[in-house]
Amino acid sequence: MQVRMGSSTTPRLEGRVTRARFLNLDVARRFAYNRAVMVSTGGGLTASTRICAVVGHPVRHSASPAMQNAGIAALGLDWRYVALEVRPEDLGAAIQGAGAMGFIGLNLTVPHKLLAFELVDLLDESAREWGAVNTIRFEGCDAGGGWRPLAEFKTESPREVRAHGFNTDADAIVQSLREDLGLEPRGARVLVLGAGGAGRVAALRLARAGARALFLVNRTRSKAEEVAAAIRQKEPGVEVEVGYPTGGVDLVLNATSAGLGAGDSLPWDPSAFELHQARAVYDMIYRPAETPLLRRAAEAGCRTANGLGMLLYQGAKALELWSGQRAPVEVMREALRGNVYGD
Ligand code: ATR
Repeated sequence: MQVRMGSSTTPRLEGRVTRARFLNLDVARRFAYNRAVMVSTGGGLTASTRICAVVGHPVRHSASPAMQNAGIAALGLDWRYVALEVRPEDLGAAIQGAGAMGFIGLNLTVPHKLLAFELVDLLDESAREWGAVNTIRFEGCDAGGGWRPLAEFKTESPREVRAHGFNTDADAIVQSLREDLGLEPRGARVLVLGAGGAGRVAALRLARAGARALFLVNRTRSKAEEVAAAIRQKEPGVEVEVGYPTGGVDLVLNATSAGLGAGDSLPWDPSAFELHQARAVYDMIYRPAETPLLRRAAEAGCRTANGLGMLLYQGAKALELWSGQRAPVEVMREALRGNVYGD
């Protein structure tokens, strides 16, 4: 196998750069890199260091490594969390390879969450319920035939490894609404904007949490109708309508991607719904910290929160699934804020 290393930064062997000098430069660069890793993670990489990763395409924007490495360090684990860019057609090989190499676990991000559902060996109830996998825990079969998280295999080697798929996204929505907005979904009237992957799960999860009425709005109306039909079938006690409410609501939840880009259109029609009809507004977008929706909502006197909490709570739950320990949520929140907003 040919391995191409650092093509953009490694000097080519030409002109006055001799092979010996090249090697010295390379060693120096690696030394600097390893020192930077030690400083940023609080310890050196050893032969027993284990790996976790977020897998996506693209993935370089991900704030998960900063958040998870801070949590891992606070728990005193000899693990590192990296971001790996994997094309959808390679996802099966990547999951299998990660298990074979004794990775602790993986997080899946866009566009892999639905695909991973088909690729894991075992689905947790959370993944089956929401139809998507955002967390994989690798588990090993021990000498007695029992399956345990790979994190628990310290000296022995497992006889076999399997990928166990979970969904920690859906519960993170409800947790973030509670913790960041002080909003209890039970009995609430909610306007959900967006009926893509995130909007569907959010609407279904709110219905499961006992929301009284859900109003679903999506640019492509047929998708909102599909989600409404799914809720009527799964949660017949919840009132569901496609379209804007006439009266007030407890919450407007934006699950569209409108607001991510500087020139994006607003995710709702202000002539059909005025924000002062809402007590609280949640935007799943967290970059920028204040989207045009959240700015207008604050001006209208609504309580507001962005989606950073969702990212935090899904990650904290993943770390708990892998480690069996309580996640250091505040440490992870600080690291996330530092990475995303630079504060
Ligand atoms: P995700 O997994 O993040 O939900 P998705 O499934 O692609 O991503 O869904 C994106 C959502 O944002 C959809 O509800 C989409 O509306 P359509 O179903 O009509 O495509 C919505 N969306 C994207 N851009 C939008 C815009 N400019 N205005 C309103 N809605 C928008």
